[in-house]
Amino acid sequence: MSGIELREVWFRYPGSKDWALRGVSLEIRQGEVLALVGPNGSGKTTILKLAGGLYRPARGEVRLWGTNIWEVNGSRRLELRRMVVYVHEKPILLRGTALDNVAFALLLRGVPREEATRRAEDLLEGSASSHLMGKGRSEMSAGEAQVVSILRAVAAGPRILLLDEPTAHLDREKRGILTDLIGRLRSEGVGMAIATHDLLLAARAADRVAIIEDGRVESVGSPSEVLDCC
Ligand SMILES: Nc1ncnc2c1ncn2[C@@H]1O[C@H](COP(=O)(O)OP(=O)(O)OP(=O)(O)O)[C@@H](O)[C@H]1O
Ligand SMILES: [Mg+2]
Repeated sequence: MSGIELREVWFRYPGSKDWALRGVSLEIRQGEVLALVGPNGSGKTTILKLAGGLYRPARGEVRLWGTNIWEVNGSRRLELRRMVVYVHEKPILLRGTALDNVAFALLLRGVPREEATRRAEDLLEGSASSHLMGKGRSEMSAGEAQVVSILRAVAAGPRILLLDEPTAHLDREKRGILTDLIGRLRSEGVGMAIATHDLLLAARAADRVAIIEDGRVESVGSPSEVLDCC
């Protein structure tokens, strides 16, 4: 499988008696957008974190490009996890400007500083965010910070991007910018899983929608098959 596969995954948080996930099977394929939709507490964030290899399932398998990441050694697991980036719903930015934040992801991957700066500028410009370049994290609105944290994740060049509530702070214009960015990444072969309450985003951007309820996948299908909103 070219991407991430969860097979019959069961998970509970340390100290909790209740299962957060109860036998979840899902595929997040490269070049495809999967939206996770469902009530608060249904398990969307938990699914993304397991898909990103951040938590270990109690039962079941998490496979990245066909390899069960919990059956290989730590360095191989890290190598596989590098192909996936999880973007937290609350923007977490580093000190420095928006440009520094985006460029940092490239520097981490060994891109020379000059090129990293140029590519970070291109990314911000391409998402109508040039005006944010020189702003520090305390000088940005919640929505601006959200856009920058998503662009930083994109700069890292993941093959699969896991977006948790990416439109939580975005106005209509920025939602449009994000939908365009998602379309662009998809055409470049990036796969995405997006946990969202924004049904319009799910309807517009997703190839498939999974309805999550009570730690299970209720149904999966095209937006028109499973969403009756839009
Ligand atoms: N750190 C944690 N410790 C214990 N239980 C947790 C923790 N995080 C989440 N849970 C529980 O796991 C279940 C799934 O939570 P999760 O955050 O995945 O839901 P969600 O679908 O993302 O909800 P929302 O729409 O509110 O973001 C819930 O019952 C929640 O209470
Ligand atoms: Mg959540």
